[in-house]
Amino acid sequence: MTDKLIIFDTTLRDGEQSPGASMTKDEKIRIAIALEKMRVDIIEAGFPIASPGDFDAVHTIAHLIKDCTVCGLARALSKDIDCAAKALKGAASARIHVFIATSRVHMENKLHKSPDQVLEQAVTAIKRARQYTDNVEFSAEDAGRSTPEFLCRIIEAVIAAGARTINIPDTVGYTLPEQYGQLIALLRERIPNSDKAIFSTHCHNDLGLAVANSLAAVMNGARQVECTINGLGERAGNAALEEVAMAVKTRQDIFPCHTNLDLTQIVKCSRLVSNITGFPVQPNKAIVGANAFAHEAGIHQDGVLKHRETYEIMRAEDVGWNTNRMVLGKHSGRNAFRQRLKELGIVLNSEEALNTAFSRFKILADKKHDIYDDDLQALVSDTLSTEYEHIKLISLKVCVETGEAPEAHVTISIDGKEQSIGATGSGPVDATFKAIETLVKSDTSLLVYSVNNITNGTDAQGEVGVRLEKKGSIVNGQGADTDIVVASAKAYLNALNKILRPVERQLPQGSGSV
Ligand code: KIV
Ligand code: ZN
Repeated sequence: MTDKLIIFDTTLRDGEQSPGASMTKDEKIRIAIALEKMRVDIIEAGFPIASPGDFDAVHTIAHLIKDCTVCGLARALSKDIDCAAKALKGAASARIHVFIATSRVHMENKLHKSPDQVLEQAVTAIKRARQYTDNVEFSAEDAGRSTPEFLCRIIEAVIAAGARTINIPDTVGYTLPEQYGQLIALLRERIPNSDKAIFSTHCHNDLGLAVANSLAAVMNGARQVECTINGLGERAGNAALEEVAMAVKTRQDIFPCHTNLDLTQIVKCSRLVSNITGFPVQPNKAIVGANAFAHEAGIHQDGVLKHRETYEIMRAEDVGWNTNRMVLGKHSGRNAFRQRLKELGIVLNSEEALNTAFSRFKILADKKHDIYDDDLQALVSDTLSTEYEHIKLISLKVCVETGEAPEAHVTISIDGKEQSIGATGSGPVDATFKAIETLVKSDTSLLVYSVNNITNGTDAQGEVGVRLEKKGSIVNGQGADTDIVVASAKAYLNALNKILRPVERQLPQGSGSV
C-alpha cells in the first residue's frame, strides 16, 4: 500500500481570487457539494475575515459538509484566527490555515518586519490557532523566493508550536520543478522535527509550471497538494487538481502515493466551476478540455480503433466523460425531477425554489425532447441565480430581417415595476443589451460575452456567459435557454443583479494581504 496524497482544494479561496471569478454563497455551496462528492480531503472554503460574505460562506459550508475537512484562511493575526475559528465552529472536521510571508522582498516591503519579528508572530499565531483545533496548517508565503535557512528556522519553530501541516507556497510561480523538489527534500531533511508535520505544495502557474512543480514536490516527500479545479487562481492560476490527480493515477509506476478521489466526478466539477465563474475551459486543456480525448489525425484514429492504448494513456470515462445521461423527458414528474437533482448533488433551499425549477424544467421539456444532466445543471443555475433578482426579464421580442437593423423589444421589471423599451443594434443580442441598458442605466462595461452549446443538436440549450465591470468591481452572469438571445438577456440580467449589489472584499490595511 502506498502513502495517501492529501488533496486540498482551494477553488473557493485562491480560485475565487482570480479577477472576475467571485462567486455567490449559493454558487460556493454547489461547488463544495461537488468537491465532497469527488472526495477531496480538504476544502478551503474562504478567508473569513475578508468580508461578511466570505465569513458566511465558510460558516455555511462548515455546517453542510460532513465528509471533508473544511478549512478557513487567516493571516498570522489574532483577529483573523479568531474569526476563522468562529466561522468554522460546528464543522465535522475543521482546519485553520495561518500564513505569513517569509521572503525578504515581502518581509521588508509589505510587512516592514525583521525575520525575527516574523518568526515570533508566526509562533504566536500558531499557538493561538491551536487553542481552537489540533488541525493547524502553516504557510510560509512566497517560500519559493525565501532563503532555505530562514525557512528551516521558522518551520522548526511553528512545528514546535503545534502546526501539523507545513505548506511551501510558490506564491509568484517563480520556481522550476527540480529546484522546488529539492527545496522540499532539503526542508524535510534539515528540520529536526519535520517528521511531526505533513509537507504541502501550493504552486502558482505564472511560468506554466504549477503542476510540474507540485509533482516534483510529491516525488520529494510532500504528501499534500493544494490545487484548484481547472487550475483557477490568482493571475495565471494554481495547479489544476485534475492534472495532478490524473498524473498520480496514470503514473503509479513512478508515484509512491495515491489519492482518495472519485475521479469520475472530475469532468462534472470542471463544468460546474466553468459554468459558475464564466471562465471557459480551453478545448486542448488536459483531462477536461473538449479535445482532451478526441483523435483527429487518421493515423491516430486508426491506431485507437485497432488497440486503444496505441494513443491513449487514460480512459475518457475514468474522468467522467461520456456520462452525460439522458435523464428526464416531458412526462417526468416532480419526484423524478427532485430525485435526479439529489443524485447530481444539487440542493435547492426551499420548496418554492424546487417548484420554480420544476416549472422551468417543464417549459424546457416542451421545447427540447431529451433532457440531459448538463441541461439540469444549467436550469438549476438559472433558478438559483434568480432567487435574488430585483431586475427580472418579463418578455423579449426580437425582429431580424436580412438587410434591416435587428430590433429588440424588452420588458423587464425593476423592483417590481414593469418597464418596456425597444432598441436596435448590430445584431439581436446587441439590440437586446442596448434596450436593457436604456432601462437600467447600469453604467457597466461588458468585458466578455461567450456562448456554448450545453448538449448537441440544434434544439440544444445555449449557455451564455457575460462579464461586467463597474468601477473596478467585476462579476460574471450566466443564462441558459434554447433561444440564445433569451439566454443572453438572462445572463446579462444575472450579472446586473450581482453588480448592482456588490459585496466588498476588504482587508484591514497594514498587515499584509494574500
Ligand atoms: O499563494 C499563496 O502564497 C497563498 C497562501 C495564502 C497559501 O495563497
Ligand atoms: Zn495562492
